[in-house]
Amino acid sequence: QTTAIPVITIDGPTASGKGTVAHRVADRLGFHYLDSGALYRLTALTALRHGTALSDEHGIAKTAEKLPVRFAGDAMWLANENVTDAIRAEDVGNMASKIAALPTVRHALTGLQLGFRKAPGLVADGRDMGTVIFPQAILKVFLTASVEARAERRYKQLIGKGFAANMEDLLKDLRERDARDSNRAIAPLKPAEGAHILDTSAMTADEAVEQVLKWYAAARKQS
Ligand code: DC
Repeated sequence: QTTAIPVITIDGPTASGKGTVAHRVADRLGFHYLDSGALYRLTALTALRHGTALSDEHGIAKTAEKLPVRFAGDAMWLANENVTDAIRAEDVGNMASKIAALPTVRHALTGLQLGFRKAPGLVADGRDMGTVIFPQAILKVFLTASVEARAERRYKQLIGKGFAANMEDLLKDLRERDARDSNRAIAPLKPAEGAHILDTSAMTADEAVEQVLKWYAAARKQS
């Protein structure tokens, strides 16, 4: 029975470190991991390549519904192409944030996300994991950090992957994306009811992981 399979949701703004934390928590517990942002990024990358206009909501939703995606460990494939790095580019992230405001696109990706809930459990990261997709999660975390801390992390990440990066542009992009993700009408970024707030501005990823694991142990005792 799927309702018996525990889900931990980790939502938060872009570059808050939720991906790293969620991934490590999943590893520690032996759980599956869902990077829901990657699904929006995969859809965005496909739309950009096909030249689908943002105004063509139906066309983008169709793309989302038919994503030829394959997950192989940490790698993501679209048909025969490994797009693990390509989906991390800033223009793809920006497009992802734009198409994520389209209700039919969100709807098209819902079933795919629910399918990740498999035994022995799931750690899901995104914007609406606790509010919309897995409202019955045993533990909900809202992971955040100051915009400066996030810009610095994103800068290091991009440079490390061989992309060009500029701090000023990153700060501007992050602020714009925060506003777009938080102010949209559908599934906006906000803490779920009962979510634990974790500000990681002055924390290492390992410290954040330990905190989440402690909350999970406490939540299990209560359930
Ligand atoms: O977490 P990320 O930066 O990879 O996500 C890319 C974009 O996708 C983000 O700007 C907002 C959107 N997104 C969303 O709307 N809902 C999710 N559950 C995950 C991501």
